Amino acid sequence: MSKKIKPAYHISGQSHVTGYSRFIGDGVKHQGILVAKMVVSTKAHAKLLEVDCEKAKKIAGVRAVLTYLDIPGENQVGHPVPDQPLLAETEVNFIGEPIALVVAESEKAATKALAAIDIKYEALPAIFSIEEAVGRKNFLGPCPKLETGDVEQAFATCDFVLEDMVGTPAQEHVYLETQRCIAVPGAEHEIILYPASQSANAVQEIAAQILGWKRKDITVDISRLGGAFGGKEGGITNAIAALTALACYHCNSSVELKLKRYEDQAWSGKRHPFSAKYKVGFNKDGKIIAYKAALYANGGAYTDLTLSVLERAVLSADNAYYIPNALIEGYPCRTNLLPNTAFRGFGGPQGIFIMESVIERVAQHLQMDPILIREVNVYQSGQKTHYGQIVSEACGEDMLKRLKTLSQYQQLKKDTELFNKNNSLVKRGLGVLLSKFGIAFTMSFINQASALIWLYGDGSVSLSHGAVEMGQQVHTKVAQIVAHTLGISLDSIRAESVNTKRIANASPTAASTATDLNGNAALKAAQELKSRLIPVAIRFLKKDHNVDSTVEDIIFLDNKIYDKSHPDQFITFKELVSHAYVMQVDLGAHGFYKADKLFYDRNTGKGEPFSYFVNGACLAQVEIDVLTGKTNVLKVFIVHEAATSINKEIDIGQVTGAFCQGYGWCTMEELQLNSEGRYLADTMATYKIPGIRDLPDVFEIEMVELKREKASVFGSKAVGEPPYTYGGATYFAIKNAILSLADNDKDVQLKMPATPEAIVMAIEEL
Ligand code: MTE
Ligand code: HPA
Ligand code: MOS
Repeated sequence: MSKKIKPAYHISGQSHVTGYSRFIGDGVKHQGILVAKMVVSTKAHAKLLEVDCEKAKKIAGVRAVLTYLDIPGENQVGHPVPDQPLLAETEVNFIGEPIALVVAESEKAATKALAAIDIKYEALPAIFSIEEAVGRKNFLGPCPKLETGDVEQAFATCDFVLEDMVGTPAQEHVYLETQRCIAVPGAEHEIILYPASQSANAVQEIAAQILGWKRKDITVDISRLGGAFGGKEGGITNAIAALTALACYHCNSSVELKLKRYEDQAWSGKRHPFSAKYKVGFNKDGKIIAYKAALYANGGAYTDLTLSVLERAVLSADNAYYIPNALIEGYPCRTNLLPNTAFRGFGGPQGIFIMESVIERVAQHLQMDPILIREVNVYQSGQKTHYGQIVSEACGEDMLKRLKTLSQYQQLKKDTELFNKNNSLVKRGLGVLLSKFGIAFTMSFINQASALIWLYGDGSVSLSHGAVEMGQQVHTKVAQIVAHTLGISLDSIRAESVNTKRIANASPTAASTATDLNGNAALKAAQELKSRLIPVAIRFLKKDHNVDSTVEDIIFLDNKIYDKSHPDQFITFKELVSHAYVMQVDLGAHGFYKADKLFYDRNTGKGEPFSYFVNGACLAQVEIDVLTGKTNVLKVFIVHEAATSINKEIDIGQVTGAFCQGYGWCTMEELQLNSEGRYLADTMATYKIPGIRDLPDVFEIEMVELKREKASVFGSKAVGEPPYTYGGATYFAIKNAILSLADNDKDVQLKMPATPEAIVMAIEEL
């Protein structure tokens, strides 16, 4: 079998652009489906004195108004840490916390009922900031501490020691499809859920827990999502699915619960804002000898995925650099905000951005080129991270070299300096971001996946696995793997929905691992089927063509099966499968894959949590208007370690989109809180994400196809999250442009996101 997979198209491309694609609920919605609406807390922290639903219940068309008293099972939606009620009982802890659920025959009746519910609160003191939480030692769980070498001793030997702080902001996911779920009663003691979720398994577990049912009685089916970006892995997604199940249980009818955009923005958790205090010790040559950092994550009111997000942040705190003495601490802060949740990169971008800020600070202090500081410190193969994993096939240095070539760095730097000399009201700046991103769930055991393949008598194929399609095209990639293995065309494969009846216990589609895990599982299932089909092929090649073959001689290619010495004497895949059926060959196969060498010990902060790393670098050139702070991103260059892509076009799409999302996080997406703990931006009109006009004029991406020992299926590497961090280059470029206005070794505080307002404030501070 050839190693290299054929290029392929996006399997849903045509149906997406022609509008035929159906998303969550489109296929199962019917006339008469009940409408559910959430009643949520309007207070960040309060005692619930009274929740009066009597008036609402009497409104025409209202079928039920449910509170925690109507939960037959356990009122618990916290996952993986059981610390969050589905419906508040005596206290609310954030604005947006569900208190009751209205179920009605129409949207109108439901809305009317919402207004008729009377809730009496007694306000309690609320906290929103990391500082307040730290002051009260209000943490959601244990505080990780990772240590290597001896930091205190090392600081004493350094030429320079600096201390500073860095903050990274929240971010709204802006998936196109809002949170939603449809619940349908099954034939007998069964509820079928169609949630917009990245984890069928979590939805099944939570819904069963809420109803006090067995998991076998809850079926979850997920066709595809209109985007997720981590926002459909955790808290609110499980809550919405469980509430829909609860409504279905009480009304014995199909129910839909679907958030409006403004509800979704106001009630769903965001990327965790972080703040970090650090102390860095380095020598004249820019070499970092000691690094001590405390990373604080604002987790919000309940744990949700905060502990895992923080864990990835502290594991990413070294970013791409070998630091012999490091002490990294993490603090999961509990506040009265929405429970923050997974968001592309999952704490990685925060840890990486903080370290990149340290690099920039060192460069600024030494008045050296920031790329040089990166080169001096970048990992070489064989060096150990602060948690003890050995970095192999290190290529950060190579990435920087390629980036300099791609961007014609020296010339660009000269041009930028010259431009700044000649212009006083418009300034240009260059910024770089180097990134090393660890791949695998840090909860090691969930690095597992299953696939199930059925061959139909006509040679067409049903392919199920546990990865949810959310735009990243995991369904195309896994189908390509199966098509390649069986030598068939992509259009003979149906990429099935994720369904708990076909694939149980699936890990969430997250951590960029979906193709690694599910692709490997599908490969195993396809290989199993192939091994069963080969004897049938040998028999019919002999019978039909009088060709004698051994197992090793048989080729599956282009829907044909033949002996490698007789390519013209073939049988078709369709003929082969129909022969196999008649011969009573089992035409279904299950594949299971686990990454079982990974481990991470939370007590010692040591282990080998990652299968491998994905490296890459980005350089941005920006222009700022000194008077208004308006930014123009002029040029962006990215080099990305693609290893052997399964689908290069898809991977370029992922790199492009991830960069844009990171660029938005760093420069324009702003979530300000009011004094009550409510985000001011709750519509797209007040939340600015990069649009087409914000794209750079020059945008070049080099996919670096290096052959890798440590990679995944067919030599590929994960691509979903790692390029997100590249967006940080725009922030450093803006800072560089601002610094061109200042005296040499002066530093400047530039708030993130670097909005025009933040830029003007930073300039005024100079
Ligand atoms: N790409 C699109 N178009 N839509 C998404 O929701 N999610 C990202 C990334 N790329 C996302 C996306 C996130 S957060 C992750 S973890 C990965 O896709 C998950 O899919 P993968 O494991 O198949 O890369
Ligand atoms: N990344 C993303 N999602 C996750 C992880 C992780 O490491 N662990 C649990 N969910
Ligand atoms: Mo991605 S944040 O791991 O869903």
